[in-house]
Amino acid sequence: MNNPHYSEETESSAESSTPLESQPIGFDAALRPKQLDEYIGQNLIKNNLALTIAAAKQRQEPTEHILFSGPPGLGKTTLAGIVALELGVPFRITSGPALERSGDLASIIASLQPGEVLFIDEIHRLNRTIEELLYPVMEDYALDLVLGKGPGARTMRITLPRFTLIGATTQPGSLSSPLRDRFGLHYHLEYYAEPELAEIIARSARLLDIKVDPSAATLLASRSRRTPRVANRLIKRVRDHATVKGDGTIHREDVESALSDLGIDRLGLDSVDRRILKTIIDQYQGGPVGIETIAAATSIERSTIEDMYEPFLLQIGFLNRTPRGRKVTPAAADHLGLTLALPLDL
Ligand code: ADE
Repeated sequence: MNNPHYSEETESSAESSTPLESQPIGFDAALRPKQLDEYIGQNLIKNNLALTIAAAKQRQEPTEHILFSGPPGLGKTTLAGIVALELGVPFRITSGPALERSGDLASIIASLQPGEVLFIDEIHRLNRTIEELLYPVMEDYALDLVLGKGPGARTMRITLPRFTLIGATTQPGSLSSPLRDRFGLHYHLEYYAEPELAEIIARSARLLDIKVDPSAATLLASRSRRTPRVANRLIKRVRDHATVKGDGTIHREDVESALSDLGIDRLGLDSVDRRILKTIIDQYQGGPVGIETIAAATSIERSTIEDMYEPFLLQIGFLNRTPRGRKVTPAAADHLGLTLALPLDL
């Protein structure tokens, strides 16, 4: 089923015409599930969404506003698209950083169709003015515009059709509570289990028209950082390998050698993960060290470390967050074949 309303083509610059542009290269919208029953994993969320969608359809009204949080690549945008498609309503995409001026948001909001799903990615990065403009929009379906400047300025209230706002954030803790409280539904996406990723890989292989040995799918799953976006990116690299150097089917050996060419180790860590950990061990005795210091020492942006790398390193127990900064664990040092300096207070 295709959503005839699902359009990623828009005229406004605040709406992304390529909403996946922030995705790492190689991510393919064609691999995204379009319906809830094609979506693998996140079962609790899926069951809740199915109920919400069925109820909204029966009552013929939009769902409450929904907030999806969790690390990048787990399927927040995909789920938002599925909600719109299952409801049979238009789906419009924008993001916190793309909405610079109040006018950017106002022009999108003022043209919303009844029932439409408006998706704001990285909603924690909305600026304060726009965030405040959203409060009456979300609560009362009213857009308060300020006309003119200074003492003569007037406000005008535009009544909007009822619609659903879906926000996504990798940093739910940095959302202000007034904004967070205006979402009736809040779902936190969890990292995927390896058997779920193996299933996603098998599905993607079918869509990409390539055969994959079950044991190769399992191996690839174990190196995919428990993240579907990573699994889908890797399967394409491994497919290239199997096509050019192998027999056209993905076997374990293709996974091993393609990932070794990419510098991805047996836990799925890449050279950037290793650089972060090694820097903390070599230059800061394993930590604790502040995130800004790590960013400066590795030349990796703070937000990239926080959004893309740290969550998985925390998840596998290679990094700890302490009030005094980040600390590498003995397991991480072991994995890298390095020795952690003994704590000074021993
Ligand atoms: N592709 C990316 N994420 C997926 C998921 N959760 N289920 C199925 N296919 C996917």
